[in-house]
Amino acid sequence: MPPNTTTWDLDSHTRGKHLVLERYMQAWLPIMTKWNGRVLFIDAFAGPGEYSGGEPGSPVIALRALIDHRAKSYIRSEVNYLFIEDDPDRSSHLQEVLDDLEDELPSKCNYDVITSTFDETLTEVLDDIERQRTSLAPAFVMIDPFGVSNTPMSVVKRILDNPKSEVYISFMYESINRFRNHANFEWHLDELFGCPDWRQGASLNDREDRKKFFYNLYGQQLKNNGANYVVHFELYQGQRLVYAIFFGTKNLNGCDKMKQAIWNVDPLGEFRFRGKRLGQLTLGEAVVDFSPLEEDLQNRFKSRGWQKIEDVLDFVKSDGTAFHSGQLKMKTLKPMEANGKIEVRSGTRKKSGTYPNGTVLRFL
Ligand SMILES: C[S@@+](CC[C@H](N)C(=O)[O-])C[C@H]1O[C@@H](n2cnc3c(N)ncnc32)[C@H](O)[C@@H]1O
Repeated sequence: MPPNTTTWDLDSHTRGKHLVLERYMQAWLPIMTKWNGRVLFIDAFAGPGEYSGGEPGSPVIALRALIDHRAKSYIRSEVNYLFIEDDPDRSSHLQEVLDDLEDELPSKCNYDVITSTFDETLTEVLDDIERQRTSLAPAFVMIDPFGVSNTPMSVVKRILDNPKSEVYISFMYESINRFRNHANFEWHLDELFGCPDWRQGASLNDREDRKKFFYNLYGQQLKNNGANYVVHFELYQGQRLVYAIFFGTKNLNGCDKMKQAIWNVDPLGEFRFRGKRLGQLTLGEAVVDFSPLEEDLQNRFKSRGWQKIEDVLDFVKSDGTAFHSGQLKMKTLKPMEANGKIEVRSGTRKKSGTYPNGTVLRFL
């Protein structure tokens, strides 16, 4: 049951979601502000800004990513934050928490707290933009509801219609699973998925098959509605799946940066991440087995002859594998070459064991 108090206790899986957000924002801010005069962070289910023990909520984490950024002095663009929270007590609590940060904000940073719903506010903002025949500033939109209601795919689509928008969505799988056969829940799921096809999954008896079906459908719907890449990971507490996060973007480097953010978060006690294609592998572990990446590379390139390293890198950045570009060369290609699993065309690199741009290789 969602809490009915203004603030509530922080649990470890929420902290996991926050750590990934923090890491991603640290990467997103300098990249996006380098190329754009104005960028936008929208926290569409913002909450009260802090937890009952005083721990920061997502709005503070997103603002702190800018305030404490190592490269803050190079960030010259306008960074606007929009916080949407429909509960008036929580939104006024959030306003107070943020007012305390005001003095630390860079001059080109603005924030607004709106007491309303995600659906209504985004619809208004996007209608306005449409009327002006312009597009949304590059935006990272966090959609973090308690349950599955009020997060329609139709609004997600309108966000993703804008060329540089990204969505970071908490997908409340346990609620979906629990209520999937309740008649009065049907329209929530129609809205959430943006199609009636979830009904095929609702009747699957095997738990894993059912989960896989719902995940695949949601990921596919994000792609049908504007995302070019979808990264997803699960947050567990002990053996219990708490929820999954879906990240949808049009940008290859955004996809890669999100995977890096997930991998770089240390495991926290009994809380774990699991990535889509990794099966048993738990992300964030100190000793990583790169054989699943070898396998992904073999499956993709083995029968395709010589490949440019740039194309191999693009594949690893994409959602075709759960690994990221920083794990390709030294951690995977070098051992593969030592074991005779790849061949590098002679004359395409100067130094053995390296794979600079221009290197041509094939998977054996
Ligand atoms: C899971 S909490 C958000 C936690 C916050 N993102 C964080 O990480 O610190 C969800 C919040 O969304 C608010 N909420 C519920 N329905 C909403 C809606 N339709 N639009 C905007 N906010 C809503 C709730 O009052 C609650 O504060």
